[in-house]
Amino acid sequence: MKPIDWNSLGFAFLDTNCHIRYVWKDGAWSDGELVESPYLNIHIAATALHYGQAAFEGLKAFRRKDGNVSLFRPQENAKRMAMTARRTCMAEVPEAMFVDACKRVVKANLDYVPPYGTGGSLYVRPLLIGSGAQIGVAPADEYTFIVLVTPVGPYYKGGLQAVKALVLDDYDRAAPQGTGHVKVAGNYAVSLYPHMQAQKAGYPVELYLDAKEHKWIDEFSTSNFLAITKDGTYVTVKSPSILPSITNMSLQQIAKDLGIPVESRPIAFEEISEFAEVAACGTAVVITPVYQVERAGKVYKTGPETGCGPVLEKLYQAVQGIQYGQQPDTHGWNVDVD
Ligand SMILES: Cc1ncc(COP(=O)(O)O)c(C=O)c1O
Repeated sequence: MKPIDWNSLGFAFLDTNCHIRYVWKDGAWSDGELVESPYLNIHIAATALHYGQAAFEGLKAFRRKDGNVSLFRPQENAKRMAMTARRTCMAEVPEAMFVDACKRVVKANLDYVPPYGTGGSLYVRPLLIGSGAQIGVAPADEYTFIVLVTPVGPYYKGGLQAVKALVLDDYDRAAPQGTGHVKVAGNYAVSLYPHMQAQKAGYPVELYLDAKEHKWIDEFSTSNFLAITKDGTYVTVKSPSILPSITNMSLQQIAKDLGIPVESRPIAFEEISEFAEVAACGTAVVITPVYQVERAGKVYKTGPETGCGPVLEKLYQAVQGIQYGQQPDTHGWNVDVD
């Protein structure tokens, strides 16, 4: 293993010892195998390549204050991947197998879990693909489940930094009865072009509205929308076409624990500048404060331009406190890998 400068890690793929791999054939999953090579030999007619039978997940393993390494709520990722598998007619990965796969691959790569205090973590990426050959449009008869890992640095090096977001009315992410609520790879392919447009215009994130009316807020391309109202309520989006974020679910529970009222409801875009604080939330970034949103040349202020509002800061510290073992894990969210 080459030495790693833990303090300069970003969010990029770094090779590790191995990944874990399982194959589903004739109705059953194989035993998982730890594989050193990061390459996959795949049939040229695999359904993942032609018809998008591909689903993924993203979670993190943290080295806690007491030295132990734990995964954050892997059972929730297992449930969500099973939901994606059902929607895309792929073989489901049973929850116990999913969690065991994550534990085994993290254990085999413990040297790559960033030390406590660096703010880093081991990013865990489960992937399920149709690997069987199929030339007509139909589900594959073979599936491959992989979990790969790679160390990542803290998203923010010097405290939370606010970003601005852009609404691109010419693009939608997910149709009302489409696949926005599941983590199918194609959802991300279609978001790349608008994402590049937003980046070119100087916006690190884009905010999607509902595809039918362009009236309601849906979510950001890789994170959920949340806001704190002027009277201190945590508000988040209820929509059939957004991904149910595990970070959002956890933050809602933490908010309730802290006595903050929580509302999950449709949020009209016209409400955007009435909030005291706005953020994007997800595994990679935890919480990203959003200080302004632009739509059709009009700028809407949504929070402080530098740093982060007080409620978001409190929620950020609380969730990271649990993940790094600085605070009691009262809900039993951390799953030790040993
Ligand atoms: C579209 C989308 N929304 C929200 C999220 C955040 O979900 P989670 O908190 O489970 O990472 C993600 C990341 O997985 C995403 O891709």
